[in-house]
Amino acid sequence: MINFINKLPKAELHLHIEGSLEPELLFAIAKRNNINLKYATVEELKTAYSFDCLQDFLNIYYQGAGVLIYEQDFYDLTWAYMEKCASQNVRHSEIMFDPQTHTERGVAFKTVINGISKACSDAKEKLGVSSLLIMSYLRHLSEEAAFKTLAQSLPYKHLITAVGLDSSEQGNPPSKFKNVFEASIKEGYIPLAHAGEEGAADYIWEALDMLKIKRIDHGNNCLQDDTLVQEIIKRDMALTVCPLSNTALQVVDNLKNHPLKKMMDLGLKVTINSDDPAYFGGQVNQNYIEIQENLNLTKQDLYELAKNSFQYSFLDKDTKQYFLEELERYYLNNN
Ligand code: HPA
Ligand code: ZN
Repeated sequence: MINFINKLPKAELHLHIEGSLEPELLFAIAKRNNINLKYATVEELKTAYSFDCLQDFLNIYYQGAGVLIYEQDFYDLTWAYMEKCASQNVRHSEIMFDPQTHTERGVAFKTVINGISKACSDAKEKLGVSSLLIMSYLRHLSEEAAFKTLAQSLPYKHLITAVGLDSSEQGNPPSKFKNVFEASIKEGYIPLAHAGEEGAADYIWEALDMLKIKRIDHGNNCLQDDTLVQEIIKRDMALTVCPLSNTALQVVDNLKNHPLKKMMDLGLKVTINSDDPAYFGGQVNQNYIEIQENLNLTKQDLYELAKNSFQYSFLDKDTKQYFLEELERYYLNNN
């Protein structure tokens, strides 16, 4: 099964590039940028990676992202993730980045986008991994701040496919960002949002109806509302589920109780993703492996999940078809 998962062609649709910053690289970048960390060693830093809730994690995550200053830092971060994609047979990744985490500290938008996008373009050429970018607005900041970020992004519009909404969910409902999402859609960005991770089902309704999202990041709490589940199915909308993130942030107490299989059985289109792999104990393949073991998923289930990852990506029709055929050949030869 592990071998089947490792070689399974797949896409990753929910990944924060800042959350892929492994402690070793974090230390190396801090050193060359002359930044003093609160932690003396990689091991000491790792002991801080134990979280009670989303906010607890975000506090550490923003600290970690604070070492990123120069274009080369963003390049190295992204390249390291893309190498991990190549080694896991992730054929395509839709990468979120949080410009405000950096612009708020005085790092230029240009520095962030250039570093990330150059690594993506090199990865396509040298590693054969395809990718696209999702610019996420931080929901703990104001809508006005998001508008500023939207304006900063416009010269780089050709490099960005979608906008997302992340950070502290409770108390920051999707409705707070209605206008900036409307403006983002007008600029040609595809709208997405984290919803129903810690927030209740009504946040998912808002994200669907007010932000007009095309995919739901997390979405676990849709299960609290049967009408909502039926609506998501009717709209043929996928959920980007992140099992190890859910247990790390105590959204789910144990992988044995994870609702992923239940979601699939209800007819929801589910994908498996790593969210912030450097912080949550595993890359995307580890998420597949652990959820398979805990829920006794079959090869057919895993095939279904990988199929959804291409089907519900924002790739063009022909490229989607190309990857889906590759996946189908793999499944036929290996089950
Ligand atoms: N949830 C919300 N915001 C985030 C996350 C997450 O899991 N990771 C990085 N920003
Ligand atoms: Zn996320």
